Amino acid sequence: MYIKPLFKIRILERAFVDKFVIKGGNKLYGEISVSGAKNAAVAIIPATVLADDVCRIENLPNIKDVAVIESILTYMGAEVRRLSESVLEIDPRGIKSYNVSCVEMVANMRASYYLLGAFLGKFSKARVPMPGGCSFCDRPVDQHLKAFEVLGAECHVEEAVIELSAEKLTGGSIYFDVVSVGSTINAMLAAVKAEGLTTIENAAKEPHIVDVANMLNSMGANIKGAGTDVIKIRGVQKLHGCTYSIIPDQIEAGTYMAAVAATGGNVLIKDVIPKHLDSISAKLRDTGTVVEEYDEAVRVIREGELHRCNVKTMPHPGFPTDMQPQFVALLSTASGTSRVNESVWDDRFSYIPQLKRLGADILQQGHIAIVQGVSGLKGAPVKAPDLRAGAALVIAGLVAKGTTEIENIKYIERGYENIVDKLAAVGADIRRVTYKNTMDDEY
Ligand code: EPU
Repeated sequence: MYIKPLFKIRILERAFVDKFVIKGGNKLYGEISVSGAKNAAVAIIPATVLADDVCRIENLPNIKDVAVIESILTYMGAEVRRLSESVLEIDPRGIKSYNVSCVEMVANMRASYYLLGAFLGKFSKARVPMPGGCSFCDRPVDQHLKAFEVLGAECHVEEAVIELSAEKLTGGSIYFDVVSVGSTINAMLAAVKAEGLTTIENAAKEPHIVDVANMLNSMGANIKGAGTDVIKIRGVQKLHGCTYSIIPDQIEAGTYMAAVAATGGNVLIKDVIPKHLDSISAKLRDTGTVVEEYDEAVRVIREGELHRCNVKTMPHPGFPTDMQPQFVALLSTASGTSRVNESVWDDRFSYIPQLKRLGADILQQGHIAIVQGVSGLKGAPVKAPDLRAGAALVIAGLVAKGTTEIENIKYIERGYENIVDKLAAVGADIRRVTYKNTMDDEY
């Protein structure tokens, strides 16, 4: 039989794919150790570009996003050595160009916008392909550009490439119209070496903002106020190398906390900063889950019935949007009706049809998901539309009776190190399976 070449290529590309296969219903018991924070790592690695010496970054999560930035910096001329799974040594002195021309690598990386701030801060110029959108939003960068312009850069956007250029960067007063994690970090990266004082008002306050500021300060920067609404940066001429250890991942920890609450059980979640988990712990307690706090761990215990609760996502210290899908999965088997209000992103509910395939009863009304708790979920084949939505499907699969197969796990593995091993170690029946893809694309 004759097969047209294009068709043949498609079959080869899709022939072998990985998926998670979960047999739900097991309660979780034991200990899980949390890795370094993804959203700090994806900013801290580009920040090393600003140094005039070697930087050693520790407690990095072993995930795809980190590997992608590692390869971008190597492509740009940095010498990157992996000392262990979680430690990189980066010597940025070989980077001689501000033109990030590795378009395909950058396209793989949602947070590639941090290359703008880092290269602008180093060279007073940057040329970076635009970050792509994602399944739940377009990613506007107007606030990033506003900050760069205040510092004296001219910004041109042409054919999906952003070009920034300044004679010299000079400190200024930046007021953000929206609270934006990426814009706040980019403003810090661009301002650390700008002449004079930069003030950022209405700054984001997430733990990883503080982490990036601490890392830059460990290289000799002068940043004060990170973690509050107002950040002040006094520009310095040079930044030296550093040894810096990244904070634990708030959202990875929260995801496992929600998983234990959903399945029931008793798990010690280790290597966390409990203060960073306050909003998540508070909401879990509303559902009747016990959360005990220790110095660097939380114990999550759920024995009784799960209660309904309402959740509204907000910038830190509010409830994180990156925990919203996992909580919708959790609340789908709670008694009563819960309202989950997404106020950070325009539409972060694209996964709801997938949860419904497992038997969840959820009605979306604009920014609000109305979750009517059901007595149980039933396994089914589903597809992860993005990282946190994928984590929500894992949680639902752990609860559901029968087998849940999750496709598109590349999204989940972008942000969760060893998720299969970590969950299996506490009693989940979850496997990563390579299979020959003969399924229809559409469910
Ligand atoms: N916004 C603008 N203009 C801008 C930038 C942002 O209007 O120039 C808006 C966005 O549309 C959104 C809001 O501001 O409505 C917040 O966006 P933010 O800039 O804070 O998001 P981000 O920096 O692009 C980071 C995380 C996201 C997380 C958000 C909110 C990284 C790499 N990503 O994105 O994490 O949802 O902050 O906390 O740090 C994830 O980890 O799964 C993830 C998506």
